[in-house]
This record gives sequence, C-alpha cells and structure tokens, in this order.
Amino acid sequence: MKKTLKDIDVKGKKVLVRVDYNVPLDANLNITNDKRIAATLPTIQYLLEQNAAIILMAHLGRPKGKAVAEMSLKPVAPRLSELLGKPVKFVAGDAISAEAKNAAADLKPGEILLLENLRFHPEEEGKNAAGEKDKSAMDAFAKELASMGEVFVQDAFGTVHRAHASTAAIVKYVKDAAAGFLVEKELKFLGEALDNAQRPFAAILGGAKVSDKISVIENLLNKVDSVIIGGAMAYTFLKSQGISVGTSLVEDDKLDLAKELLKKAAEKKVGFLLPQDHVVADKVDFVNKLVPEGAQVKITEGSSIADGFMGVDAGPKSIEQFAQTVKSAKTIVWNGPLGIFEIPEFSKGTVEIAKLVAQATDSGAVSVVGGGDSVSAVKKAGVDKRITHISTGGGASLEFLEGKELPGIAALPDKK
Ligand code: 3PG
Repeated sequence: MKKTLKDIDVKGKKVLVRVDYNVPLDANLNITNDKRIAATLPTIQYLLEQNAAIILMAHLGRPKGKAVAEMSLKPVAPRLSELLGKPVKFVAGDAISAEAKNAAADLKPGEILLLENLRFHPEEEGKNAAGEKDKSAMDAFAKELASMGEVFVQDAFGTVHRAHASTAAIVKYVKDAAAGFLVEKELKFLGEALDNAQRPFAAILGGAKVSDKISVIENLLNKVDSVIIGGAMAYTFLKSQGISVGTSLVEDDKLDLAKELLKKAAEKKVGFLLPQDHVVADKVDFVNKLVPEGAQVKITEGSSIADGFMGVDAGPKSIEQFAQTVKSAKTIVWNGPLGIFEIPEFSKGTVEIAKLVAQATDSGAVSVVGGGDSVSAVKKAGVDKRITHISTGGGASLEFLEGKELPGIAALPDKK
C-alpha cells in the first residue's frame, strides 16, 4: 500500500501536486472538456482546508521539449479558478523560470499557483537539450521542481504510466510524498474490479489493433469469466478462424497470436465473444470521418464479410449476444469502442454497449470504463452518471489492466 494524502503532513506546507490537465482544446484554445480539471478538486480542496500553499504541475499535449504557444496551460488557470471559486496564479512561458520560482516562493498558505506545461522542457520526459535520453538531466529537472515545494502529491492518474521528472523522479527530492484522492480512487476502483471482482466478471475490449491490447487480453484471461471483443481488432480474430473479413482492417502479422489467445481462452474456460454480424461499408472517409456519398452500408447475415466491404461496427445480432453477457455480469470493465465510433453512422454498437453497461450497473454490477472513445460513448448515450467509475486515464488505465507497474505509483513511499 502506498501512502495517501491523509498519511502525510501537509498543514501549512508548500505542496507540489502533479495533476493531469491534458485537456482537449478547440481551435480558439477553449477547453472542450474539463472533467480532468474537476477530478482534481477534492485533493485541492483538502489541501486548502489544511492551509497548504499549492503548486500545480501538469502537461498539455506533446510539445516534444519545446515551448509551443497552443500547448500552454494558460487556459486551464481561469477554468480551475472558476471551478474552485478562488484565484489561481499562472506564470506563462517556463515552469522553472526565475519568475515562476519567485511566484512559488511568495505563495502564501491557501494560495494556488499553476506552473507552465512541463513538457516544454525535454528533461521532463527524460531527455537532454539535444533530445538524447539522459537520466541525469531528468533528475536535475525533477530537483528544480522539488525545490519549489516541500512535499509531493501524485494526483495525475492519467500520467502515472509515464516515468517522467514530475511523475516519478521528483519523489527522491521531496521530504514526503503520497497519492492524492483522485489517484487513490482510480486505484481502488480499477484494483477492486481486477482483484476482488464480483462474478460473473466481463471485460469488453474494443479498438483498432490486437497489438495494442495483447497484454490486456492476456492478463484479463486470468481474471474474467468472459471477454467481449469489438472494433477492428475483432476482424483479426475472425480471420484467424478462417472467416472472410473483406477489406476490414486486419493485422496479418497477429493472426497466429489471435489464434493463440483464442486457444488460451478456451483452456481457461473464459467465454470469448466475437461479433456474429457486422455493419459493413464499401467506402469510408477516414480523413474527414464520414461516410462518402454513394457508399453502400449494410448489415451482414452472419460473421463473414463479402469482398469489397469492410466491417465498421458490430451488428444487431452481436449486440444481442453481447447483451446476454453484459446484463448478467456483476463486474464489467470496458476499454475501447466497438466500431468506428468517430463516424456517427458507425457508433451505434458502442452506444448500445454503453446503455447495456449502465443497465447492468443499475441492477447492481460494478462498472469501470476507461479510454477516450468508451468514455465519450457513455456520455453520448447519456449514461455517464450511471457508470460506477469512469477513469480519467486512457493509457494509464490500460496499463493497469495489463498488470504493469505504473512508475508514478511505484515511486511513492509505502504506508508505514
Ligand atoms: C493522457 O492524455 O493519456 C495523459 O495525459 C498522458 O499523455 P501522454 O500519452 O502524452 O503521455
């Protein structure tokens, strides 16, 4: 067990908090979804009650070690301030400039400062100015950040799978460290789902590539009663069974692996549900994310797909079949869409699954949803309030499901 916020003394201290404010911005740099900001409020509010001075550290996008104006965290400060009903200071340009350090030094108990995007510095991601891997450069940067405060709180669940200066290395240079309330909550829900699941336990895995989900499937085969596979990943599994999949997206180099995973599932007596029918199209405009004019879209009779057509969503029979498993499940973990979710015509399967997961939750199941598209799907279906836990971490929740060690958690000290 790692130390959590209430295990450490933060009273009147200068507390460095790593948060994940990697939020979507529109062309005018307006925040289009502030869920990640709102998710950090419990930790911030507790620290304010403890009269701490709060220094927030975050990243936005992947600026690759350079200052990129459109990736500034500037728009986040007013939004956070609005949510908190309190001023939030922000120093633009550089997280460790003299101005930023002075602002941190002058920060009074009960005040909040947000530092500029840490990824403007290559050292945050473990590189030096020449872009080479350099652990000592990362450590030096972590030390600079640490010098601005006294204790460290890890509340950036979405970034705990990264071994960066502000997520892991910094812990060595502070007096004490702990997981914040958001990280604690994420680990509780994901951990309980995986290791203390009420049965039956069903996992729903979607997305384009088997290769992205191999480790997740392998790990979950030891834990779940059924796996439902959707998205383009399903076509690789179907093809590995000799079923024709037309022009569907397939990873031909993963066919043997797909076969192997199906065999393992059978050995472990884990139900492995693949779509039995599909929505198919002869043309898809992936660039503009639309169905081109004149494209033929239809539903297949069975699981095979005719030449010239590609699978774009799970068909109605598949959804019905998946529904049996989802409705009877007592624990559900879902990551990844069942079709080309970003094209509205092909999002039906994913939205239907979202509704089924919500229904199962209403009947007492514990549901945990992670991954950008599945999270958008539960919102689109209007059922987000009915899901037990929606993770703020895409990659992080996936790595957790893989059973991997998360560097941002591993670095924290253990509870005494
Ligand atoms: C995310 O959006 O998943 C996190 O903020 C991590 O971002 P990254 O994948 O760029 O490290």
